Parts: sequence; C-alpha cells; structure tokens
Amino acid sequence: MKLPDLSDDFTDRVAVVTGGGSGIGRAIARRYAAAGGTVYVLGRREEPLAETVGLITAAGGRATLLTCDVRDAARVTEVIDGVAEAEGRVDALVNNAAGNFVVPGEELSPNGWKAVIDIVLNGTFYATRAAAQHMLAAGQGSILSVIATYAWHGHPGTVHSAAAKGGVVAMTRTLAVEWAARGVRLNCIAPGPTETEGAGQALWGSDAARSRVQASVPAGRFADPAEIAESAAFLLSDRAAYVTGEVLVVDGAQWLGKSVYTDDRASS
Ligand code: HXC
Repeated sequence: MKLPDLSDDFTDRVAVVTGGGSGIGRAIARRYAAAGGTVYVLGRREEPLAETVGLITAAGGRATLLTCDVRDAARVTEVIDGVAEAEGRVDALVNNAAGNFVVPGEELSPNGWKAVIDIVLNGTFYATRAAAQHMLAAGQGSILSVIATYAWHGHPGTVHSAAAKGGVVAMTRTLAVEWAARGVRLNCIAPGPTETEGAGQALWGSDAARSRVQASVPAGRFADPAEIAESAAFLLSDRAAYVTGEVLVVDGAQWLGKSVYTDDRASS
C-alpha cells in the first residue's frame, strides 16, 4: 500500500473555516494558510474576518472572507458552493463557529437554548452537509469540528453548549462511518481553556473565574490558540489519513484531572 503524504503541506488545497474571525478559528486559518493552503473564513461580522484575512495575506498567504451566519442553512450552502465553484474543490471544513454563555439550566430560556443549539449543532450540520457534497464527489475531504470535553462529562451552566457539542460528537462518529469508504474523514478536537477573547468573555469574565479555570488545568496554564491549531493541522492533513470518527483532546489534562482522591504528593 502506498503510504499517505506525511507532510502537512496544504499547497493547492482549500479550506473553509467557520468562525474564522477570532480565536481558535483564526489560528487554524492562519496555520492552514502558512502551510500553503487557500482559506475561506466565514463569520457573521466582516470586520474581524477582514482582520484574519489581513494577517494571512500580510504573511504571503491566500485568504478570502465570506459573511455568513451558520444558522442560515441556505446561505451556508450558497457560500460553500461558491467556494467550490471558484476553486474547483473544497478539501477541508473546520466547524469552529460557536455561541456560549454561562447560565443555570432552570434560567435558560427556550430561545437561549435554541440560539446555541442552532449555532453549534445545526450550523455544524449545515456546513458539513454542504461541504460534503463536494468532498464526496471528489472522493476526498477532511472535516474537523471544535468541541469541548463537557460534551461527555457535562458542565454546570452550559447545558445548551454541552448538549450541542455532544450532538456534534455523535454526528461526527455517525458520518465518519457513512463516509469512510468514500474518502471523507470527520474528527473533533476538544481544546481546554484557550487564550481567546470569545471564550474568555463568555466563560471566565472575572479575574476570580479565570484563576479558578487556570487552577483546574493540571498543566497549570491556558492554551495558546496556535497550539490548538497545530493539532487541528494534523487532523486536517494526510498524516491523519487513517483517523476518522475520533476526538483529540488538547487540554493540558484538564478533564482527566478531576479526581478528588489525588494525593498531595502527586499533585504538587
Ligand atoms: C442568559 C442569555 C445570555 C446570558 C443570551 N441569552 N445571552 N440568557 N444569559 N448571558 C439569551 C437571550 O436572552 C435570548 O433569549 C437568547 O439567548 C438569544 O440571545 P440573542 O442575543 O438574541 O442571540 P444572538 O444575538 O443570536 O447571539 C447568540 C449568542 C451570543 C450565543 C447569545 O452570545 C453569540 O453570538 N455568541 C458568539 C460568540 C461566543 O459566544 N463565543 C464563545 C464561544 S466559547 P430570550 O428568551 O431573552 O429571547 C465556547 C468554548 C467552550 O464555546 C469550551 C470551553 C472549554
């Protein structure tokens, strides 16, 4: 059997990154472009997307912005079809767009629930479905969804997001089996606390909350978005050609470190 290309050279490849105007989405877009790929960044607001495009093009890369709310299935299909038409291919999709806020479950309104489910779960399906039409026709493609470990362990205050991310994992595993023989891989990446404005404002707004979050990470620090992008690049590349339906946790051991029985000597 011929071994896959073991480089992460994305030359002549095309990626679509939702939520590409900030944080992890921006870092993945920059990483993909730095390895020679062409990147389309999607998001609701033009300004942050333009900033991402500016950073990429200033570094000699190729990037284009497309304004699009992932909750609008017709618009998602329209822009992804447009990318396929302009470039003749869609090699990668990164489902990174997310919405989140901390609220006790009993205080979450049906509309608040719906807003997050629509962005995270439905938006991921709309983009996945649209990109897959082109990937399945080409017999190759890689789809990566950004989730969180509370997809399986749950987390007080984020019932909407945890349920949506759990749904994304189930979707990923289901479609990985459906599409494996047709060359389309789907994986998830589960970052731990990462230095981004969006997550910071939504989840650790105060200094006290930030210290609590940092103390919960056995590695003792937040992740840099570039570190998450590095793992994303691996999963998007042919180096991961035999990896599909999987979740890669990149969290400094945060979720494994929840044991209450830890010996003082082991945690010092
Ligand atoms: C309670 C809230 C709320 C809050 C919004 N709502 N914020 N309820 N507490 N803090 C309710 C509103 O009252 C409304 O319900 C409903 O949610 C929709 O709110 P809108 O503001 O109209 O929605 P919209 O403008 O569409 O904005 C969507 C959003 C917003 C999800 C609410 O926060 C957003 O767009 N966020 C995108 C960026 C983001 O959140 N990034 C963080 C991702 S971090 P009612 O009933 O009043 O009409 C992440 C990391 C997780 O996911 C992993 C960490 C380890």
